[in-house]
Amino acid sequence: MTKFTKAKHKILVTSALPYANGPIHLGHLVEYIQVDIFVRFLRLIEENVLFVCADDTHGAPIEIKASELGITPEKLISQVYDEHVQDFKEFLISFDNYYTTNSPENKFYSDLIFKKLKEKNLIYTKDIEVTYCEHDKRTLPDRYVKGKCPKCNAPDQYGDVCENCNAAYKTIDLIEPYCAICKSKPIRKSSKHYFFRLSKFSKKLESWLKKNRNLQPEIKNFVFNWIKNGLEDWNISRDGPYFGFKIPGEEDKYYYVWLDAPIGYIASTDNYCKNHGLNTEDYWSSKDARIYHFIGKDIIYFHFLFWPAMLLGSGFSLPYHIPVHGFLTVNNEKMSKSRGTFFTAKEFLQKHNAEHLRFYYAGLLSGRMSDIDLNFDDFRKKINNELAANIGNFCYRVLNFLNRYFDGEIKDIDSNKKLLDEIKKLAKNVEKNYYGLNFNEALKSVLHISSLGNKYFQENEPWKLIEKDREKVHKILGLCANIVKDLSILIEPILPDFSLRLQQQLNLRNLKWRDINSELKNHKIGKDEILVKKMEEKKETKREFPLNLKVAKIIEVKEHPNAEKLYILDIDLGNEKRQLVAGIKGYYSADELKNKKIIVVANLKPAKLRGVESKGMLLAGDDGTGPGLLTAEHSNTGDKAYFEGLENGTAQITYEEFAKISMLVKNSKVYFDNKELKTDKEIIRVEKSKDGARVR
Ligand code: MSP
Ligand code: ZN
Repeated sequence: MTKFTKAKHKILVTSALPYANGPIHLGHLVEYIQVDIFVRFLRLIEENVLFVCADDTHGAPIEIKASELGITPEKLISQVYDEHVQDFKEFLISFDNYYTTNSPENKFYSDLIFKKLKEKNLIYTKDIEVTYCEHDKRTLPDRYVKGKCPKCNAPDQYGDVCENCNAAYKTIDLIEPYCAICKSKPIRKSSKHYFFRLSKFSKKLESWLKKNRNLQPEIKNFVFNWIKNGLEDWNISRDGPYFGFKIPGEEDKYYYVWLDAPIGYIASTDNYCKNHGLNTEDYWSSKDARIYHFIGKDIIYFHFLFWPAMLLGSGFSLPYHIPVHGFLTVNNEKMSKSRGTFFTAKEFLQKHNAEHLRFYYAGLLSGRMSDIDLNFDDFRKKINNELAANIGNFCYRVLNFLNRYFDGEIKDIDSNKKLLDEIKKLAKNVEKNYYGLNFNEALKSVLHISSLGNKYFQENEPWKLIEKDREKVHKILGLCANIVKDLSILIEPILPDFSLRLQQQLNLRNLKWRDINSELKNHKIGKDEILVKKMEEKKETKREFPLNLKVAKIIEVKEHPNAEKLYILDIDLGNEKRQLVAGIKGYYSADELKNKKIIVVANLKPAKLRGVESKGMLLAGDDGTGPGLLTAEHSNTGDKAYFEGLENGTAQITYEEFAKISMLVKNSKVYFDNKELKTDKEIIRVEKSKDGARVR
């Protein structure tokens, strides 16, 4: 039925290589799920497709993180690699090859491309000024030097862009710069660097963009503008210490991570080809191959300018398409640890099913660059109403009925031309929309088919009709079973595991797209089982609790010089000592306080209270008659205090954010979301406060 079934091209699909310095999270998964749906669809229509990716392992953050952890970068990236592979497996991401950029193949291609560009005089060296920390003995990359923004004077800004006024600048432009690692003042230093002549590529890039009909127009416009405003040559080297490939002939200079990262696409392909008797050139140096790079909107510059220019300069094929997706928001806001809306892949799986996320994302993905939002209420509704009540229910009732009344035998198919034509049309639409990356539309049509199936089943009332016309009912069920078979194929790119189980129940396997129009007759199905369970209607609790609560011991109590009601407390947090200012004078004497074990908010933004610095805050119940301290006499200093099932936050929070959190006293204990505050050794007690008192 399809115009795509004949594989004319070799198709290579890549997803962006995730950084090896952190876990896979729900934002990443937008991309990997999107690409996986596309690739599985291509396989179903029997295209010749190869799906490769790798961990992006180089760069300063990885080197710095490893040195903080006291392990080698190699050790760090191999741990992260194992975790990433595990996460992708759980979410059914079907890479043909998942490799690493720290590989011999990647070194080979990086050196090769560097050499070719250099021979063509597309690379030159120049001395530039860099920011250097004499204490840490390193050149500080953008994110490791902070200071005042040169445009708006906002304090504590990174070395590349100001989060306050969005200005972009160089690290050396920062006012009163300091090293983000050791806080000391860096110096300026001159250093030789390698530059790629991106400026020479304006015309070629422009004409490639114009000719390529697949690229999203909205993005082309962006890129045309960048070109119009003038392209600057690109610094492709970094000084050591750095984790990466050394530049040939240099002692302590490395390729910038963004040079060798996209080359990782070639290297991963090469590694796969070597192991499977294929030729890398058939993908990267052939007119017949089609290369798709899927990326997020934050890395457009690299994939629409630097990377094609490198490919042009070194004689490799240019991408056929670079589909760009938007960012994930949770409850319409940027994911945030302190708001409890940041979820790693692993955290999500503790509560939810991986295929449910695939289903939900598919319903939102449109092949455009717009952001998509994860809302847990909406998530539950869609899983219950669309997946469980619609497709899941239809498939189950059909197979169950067949087994119950006809011993699982499909004989003939009811001739209902109108219904069959409608389904055929919808299936075409599914195909078109998978191909065009409009998965939301594809899914709509799939759901429409199962609604039609449900309606047809319902209207014929087979459970009644069976008394009068058993043969007719058998045909009706034959038609329904064929719709189930079609659904198992149509939904497979989105729900591969559901599809597999459904086909097992149908006693079929490995169906392809062309099986959609074949008729399933005189066939015995297998055992039916419920395919999807509804999600419970329970309020989505945050995995993370924004406060970092700890047991602290009061060591010293001092009078505040400018305030009658305030004490200055020296406290011990186990691994550190701090000073707090607390408004409990008049309610507690210095003697009562000394050596007391209390609960403090350790991640509150430091503040000056009447001129004295307070780092953190103690917690007390307040019922209007004065504060009653939270106590933990049987716990160790520094112990974590927490609510069952919630992880304490680590990000700093402001007093305003703190004030929004409602913890209440009941029976001298503290409650949040019906859970009581405790340590591993005891339940926290509140002194003096009556039930209903607020904790602050
Ligand atoms: N290592 C680079 C890519 C190198 S490709 C030669 C990188 N890594 S990343 O881990 O930060 O991101 C990997 C992909 O995930 C990128 O395409 C990025 O846009 C995407 N996403 C990361 N966070 C995301 C969201 N919150 N939402 C949607 N996609 C996001 O960039
Ligand atoms: Zn430093």
